[in-house]
Amino acid sequence: MNKSISLRVNDVDYKVNVENNWTLLELLRDRLHLTGTKKGCEEGECGACTVIMNGEPVNSCLVLAIEADKAEVVTIEGLEKNGQLHPIQEAFIKHGAFQCGYCTPGMIMSVKALMDHNPNPSREEIIVAITGNLCRCTGYTKIIEAVESLVAVNEKDS
Ligand code: FES
Ligand code: FES
Repeated sequence: MNKSISLRVNDVDYKVNVENNWTLLELLRDRLHLTGTKKGCEEGECGACTVIMNGEPVNSCLVLAIEADKAEVVTIEGLEKNGQLHPIQEAFIKHGAFQCGYCTPGMIMSVKALMDHNPNPSREEIIVAITGNLCRCTGYTKIIEAVESLVAVNEKDS
């Protein structure tokens, strides 16, 4: 059984036929070829597949593609604008907040969702926001420092 759904991903409108059992992760990677979103555990444990759907971070491996009908989705590919990386991406590079990079797209999407709602999060709020994103390489300290550097910038601006 398949169904036609419409959704907007990174400001592009798509109309696609999806099987009832497809996940949003499969739709993004296998049909829309947006492979920046990573496939890890496929059971909601690692956060590698995190995208923003209707303003909230979701594990795309736990969302059925049909549930994304009429949704607005942002993936890691949607952050760069006109060849310019997003400030969160720049901060991760500047602070060496990744090693193998497998967790990084999901981690950055969780941070983006946090900062969209709360531009000046506390260290505690940053830690809570990335709780669902596992990183086997960095020990998290550099990730937290990267996000805190953005808070410092935001506070200077306000
Ligand atoms: S692949 Fe979705 S949470 Fe691990
Ligand atoms: S940088 Fe390797 S898992 Fe996070």
